[in-house]
Amino acid sequence: MIKIEAIVREEKLEDVKAALNAIEVNGITVFQVMGCGSQKGYTEVIRGSKVDVSLLPKVKFEIVVSSEEWEKKVIKAIQDSAFTGKIGDGKIFTYDLRFAMRIRTGETGYDALN
Ligand SMILES: Nc1ncnc2c1ncn2[C@@H]1O[C@H](COP(=O)(O)OP(=O)(O)OP(=O)(O)O)[C@@H](O)[C@H]1O
Ligand SMILES: [Mg+2]
Repeated sequence: MIKIEAIVREEKLEDVKAALNAIEVNGITVFQVMGCGSQKGYTEVIRGSKVDVSLLPKVKFEIVVSSEEWEKKVIKAIQDSAFTGKIGDGKIFTYDLRFAMRIRTGETGYDALN
């Protein structure tokens, strides 16, 4: 199992959600977060206006998938839907995941995901 975290522009929330729904992922978690990348939050154009702050509001997605094939599909869906080509488009990180359980049934591992 693999966990994918993606931090994207706030205004890309709906686009990324739609792209993940389109490939039929089985669950997503979304967070409102603050962050900075290599420009240390310097200046960025947010909804058309230039903002100069050290931490910028971003949206973080967490998705857990069962295979590397799914990992690739999710990464592509997020990159395609979150891309503008300007600084601040965000980052994608992935991790090996140890454990999952569907609380209702007690199913664990892959069974908990599918
Ligand atoms: N190394 C990192 N560790 C943790 N979070 C990060 C890291 N880099 C970026 N982020 C998160 O991703 C958000 C967007 O980062 P951003 O797209 O500005 O990265 P970047 O490396 O500066 O790329 P770019 O040059 O395209 O702006 C940040 O606000 C932060 O929340
Ligand atoms: Mg940046």
